[in-house]
Amino acid sequence: MKQYAIKGGNPLVGEVEIGGSKNAALPILAAAVMTDETVYIDNMPDVFDTNVLLTALQGIGTSVVRTDRHSVTINGGNIFTQEIQDDNIKKIRAAYYPTGALLGKYKEAIVPLPGGCDIGCRAIDQHIKGFKALGAEVLIEHGYIKTKADRLVGSHIYLDCVSVGATINIMMAATLAEGTTIIENSAKEPHVVDVANFLNSCGAHIKGAGTDVIRIKGVKKLHGAEYTIIPDQIEAGTFMFAAAVTKGDLLVKNVIPKHLESITAKLIEIGCEVEEYDDCMRVVCSKKLRPSHVKTLPYPGFPTDMQPQIAVALALADGISIVTDTIFENRFKYVDELTRMGANIRVEGSTAIITGVQRYTGADITAPDLRAGAALVTAALAAEGFTTVDEVRYIQRGYEDFHLKLQALGAQIELVEDPREIQKFRLKTG
Ligand code: UD1
Repeated sequence: MKQYAIKGGNPLVGEVEIGGSKNAALPILAAAVMTDETVYIDNMPDVFDTNVLLTALQGIGTSVVRTDRHSVTINGGNIFTQEIQDDNIKKIRAAYYPTGALLGKYKEAIVPLPGGCDIGCRAIDQHIKGFKALGAEVLIEHGYIKTKADRLVGSHIYLDCVSVGATINIMMAATLAEGTTIIENSAKEPHVVDVANFLNSCGAHIKGAGTDVIRIKGVKKLHGAEYTIIPDQIEAGTFMFAAAVTKGDLLVKNVIPKHLESITAKLIEIGCEVEEYDDCMRVVCSKKLRPSHVKTLPYPGFPTDMQPQIAVALALADGISIVTDTIFENRFKYVDELTRMGANIRVEGSTAIITGVQRYTGADITAPDLRAGAALVTAALAAEGFTTVDEVRYIQRGYEDFHLKLQALGAQIELVEDPREIQKFRLKTG
């Protein structure tokens, strides 16, 4: 089983290039099959989740041609079935996106129910509510979501909770419905805006993405387009916090600073220096970190996907911090692992009470999910001594070449497969 072997202690110093947004790429790849014409997508991250989705789309007849590692040409003109049969897609949360895309285009979709990280209840009732409001029948059967409609007709939909997935899924289906759909209480995340921009570049009429009311005027069909995916807000934030945790000096390149405002504000609040440029951010940390209170919220609030990363930094701060996750109730599974490294954290319901400690010490730990896995790696980079991180497959779901990017910044980290390789790493790094 693949693991990361890490010898901590080196501050991260240098420049790192951020890739395309995973959470924008996934719905955009699904939406690309909504036209029979060819779509060219650039700045696509090469990670497990995007690769699984592309393979599943190929399985129903989509032509997928990789132009290079980060670009792909997609043509959904020869799709021969609306039923996705793919074992891997069940493992990713974004399994729900082909439903909105296929339902919009073919008025029918049969897709495995989504999996993804086990971070709490991940209901899809709001997706279902939206599809039904557009006139579709929805059935959950044998692990599949089955939707069908004679016609999709625009509707006024109020989301009971702010959901990224439901907003995007309803937006996709409504794009090819008759008449106008209004989604109220919609998610405002940058990736919601990116999907709307992509669909509009294919001929859709979507207005208001990025606000909490989205208006979609249905069109008969979409056409081909060329589109570049936005940079990954969470990959950028992870590296920015890695600079804070390791007392480093990082230039995080190819980002949209506006998308990072809540992350930047917290870094400054806890004692880092942050410089903003047109498309990069510099984060310098030279002092002991200060404690803070953090509450995760839908965008533009502090992202739940950055909660473990900030907790890892605050566990080294000078005082007591409070971190509350209002989005997912089971997102503190990394706390046991971090405790093995010396952290002092008590979890009560959806809140972690963190008493800062002087240092982490290396230990054998396990990544419990994607973002927590990455956060634990940053703790290991700051820790005294050796750490091994198990279950790196979670991290590989969303971070491209994570250990290689860290190595280039001075980290001592290797991907290893067996105890002999770990031993070799220990000897080499002393
Ligand atoms: C997406 C992201 C994930 C991120 C999350 C919140 C992808 C592939 N994943 O997940 O990385 O952490 O947004 O920014 O883009 N909810 C319901 N019913 C629904 C849908 C959601 O109750 O039908 C609840 C969820 O349980 C959760 C909250 O709404 O408490 C937010 O979920 P949502 O925004 O839908 O997250 P995902 O789209 O699953």
